Amino acid sequence: MQDILLLSGPNLDLLGTRSPEIYGAATLEEHVAAARARAALAGLGLRHVHSNFEGDLIEAVHGARVDAVAIIINAGALTHSSWALADALAVFTGPKIELHLSNPAAREPFRHLSTLAGVVDGSLAGLGALGYPLAVDAVVALLAQR
Ligand code: DQA
Repeated sequence: MQDILLLSGPNLDLLGTRSPEIYGAATLEEHVAAARARAALAGLGLRHVHSNFEGDLIEAVHGARVDAVAIIINAGALTHSSWALADALAVFTGPKIELHLSNPAAREPFRHLSTLAGVVDGSLAGLGALGYPLAVDAVVALLAQR
């Protein structure tokens, strides 16, 4: 079965208790389950990697070059600082979606920069829990266009 790689960056393991007024009440496991269920409808598997460490996420992107057909990434605050993660993603040739629960453009100025925006096919932000299955839908549509 072909797999989508879903990557979760720093502090997303705290979802459910972390600022629920911003990020909602669902846990990361619940978001992953929703994404995996949507992927299964399209006949795709979904592998999830969470790390609070930039290097782990970069390694996972490298690994995806041989074992994943697409990447969905919520890089947390690394979105706003990590040129290294952007460089890694640039090398991956399959569909790539940047995902955020909140809408960083409507928040503090430091969240307005995304280092990833220029190397992904598209971004989904501000849709809360809806974003996870919608990101899978986007990946499936992009794969169908190839
Ligand atoms: C986030 C937005 C980022 O600015 C923040 O640092 C996060 C979560 C989101 O999903 O809304 O950790 O990526």
